Amino acid sequence: MKSIASAPGKIILFGEHFVVYGIKAILATIDKRVTVTSEKTNEPYISIISSLASEKIPTSSDLTEVNKAVKPFFYLATRAIKEYNHHGGINIKIESEIPSGVGLGSSSACCVAAAASIMGLFSKLNKEEILGLAIEAEKTIFKNTSGADCTVCTFGGIIIYDKETGFLNLESKPDLEFVIANSKMTHSTEKVVANVKKFKEKNPAKFSSLCNKVEELIKRVNLEIQRNEHIAIGKSMKENQEYLEIIGVSNEKLQNMISLANKTSFGSKLTGAGGGGCIIALVDKSNSHATIKELESEYHECFKTKIDFVGVQFA
Ligand code: MEV
Repeated sequence: MKSIASAPGKIILFGEHFVVYGIKAILATIDKRVTVTSEKTNEPYISIISSLASEKIPTSSDLTEVNKAVKPFFYLATRAIKEYNHHGGINIKIESEIPSGVGLGSSSACCVAAAASIMGLFSKLNKEEILGLAIEAEKTIFKNTSGADCTVCTFGGIIIYDKETGFLNLESKPDLEFVIANSKMTHSTEKVVANVKKFKEKNPAKFSSLCNKVEELIKRVNLEIQRNEHIAIGKSMKENQEYLEIIGVSNEKLQNMISLANKTSFGSKLTGAGGGGCIIALVDKSNSHATIKELESEYHECFKTKIDFVGVQFA
C-alpha cells in the first residue's frame, strides 16, 4: 500500500525574521506543491529518493549520523516505525515543483507532506497532528524555526501567525496575485537567522524600534488585505522591504530586482529569509505581464502565482 500526500510552498507577505522575536507575520501558500509517496518494506532500511539526494539508511542509524538533506525524512520514518511497531523499513519518494533553498518553503512543505504521507501508512492524522510532527522534523535541520512556514504549508490560504499564540486564517479570500522572481542565490535560513540575531544583539534599541514598526505595519496591512486594496498593500510591501534592508538580509541583487519590479507592480519585497532567494511583486491583470517582462529579461526564473487555499492533502 502506498501513502501519498502533498503540501504547498509558501511566501511570506509580511513580517519574516521579526516573527522569530514574537511579532506577527502574514504568510500565504502558493500553487506549487511537494508530493511525498511512502511505502512500507520488509527490509530494515529507510530509502529516500529526491532530485536533491538519494540515500538508503539502516533503520538502526543514529539521527546525528544522517546527511542533513534527508534528516527530517529519516526522523519521521524512524518515529513511525517505533510508534507503530513496524518490523521493516520505509521507502520515501519526494517530487517537488518548488525550487529549493530560495525562500519558497520547499523544506517546510517537504516536512508537512512527509509527516502526512509517512504517518499515513499507519494512521490518518489530522492537520494539527501533522503540523506538530512537521515542526519537529524541521527542527532537526533548523532548530530556531518560528514554525510559521510549516503552519501555513499545513493549513493553506493566508494566515496571520504568532509564535506564541498560533495562527488565524484570514476570513476573506482576497484575489491576490504575485510575480515571483528567483535570484538563484541559494541561502541557508539558519545562517541568515543567526546573522539577524547578531544584529539584534549589537543594536538592541534599533531592533526594538523596528519590531514596533513591523507590528504597526502588520495591523494596518491586515485590513488592507481584507479590503483587497492593492495600491495600499504594495506600499506596505515597500515599507517592509526597508526594514529588512536595515537588518541586513537584503543585498544588491535583490535590491536591483525590487527596483525593476517596482517600475510596473504595486510593490515588491524579498520573501523568506533573504540573503538571496526570491522576491515577490504584487500584481493584477493590468500589470502582471509587464512585470514579468521587466524581470525576466535579467532574471530568468520568474513566474506568476496565485494563492492556494487547500494546504496539506492526501491523494
Ligand atoms: C523563513 O522562511 C522565515 C524566517 O522568519 C524564519 C522563521 O520564521 O523561522 C526568516
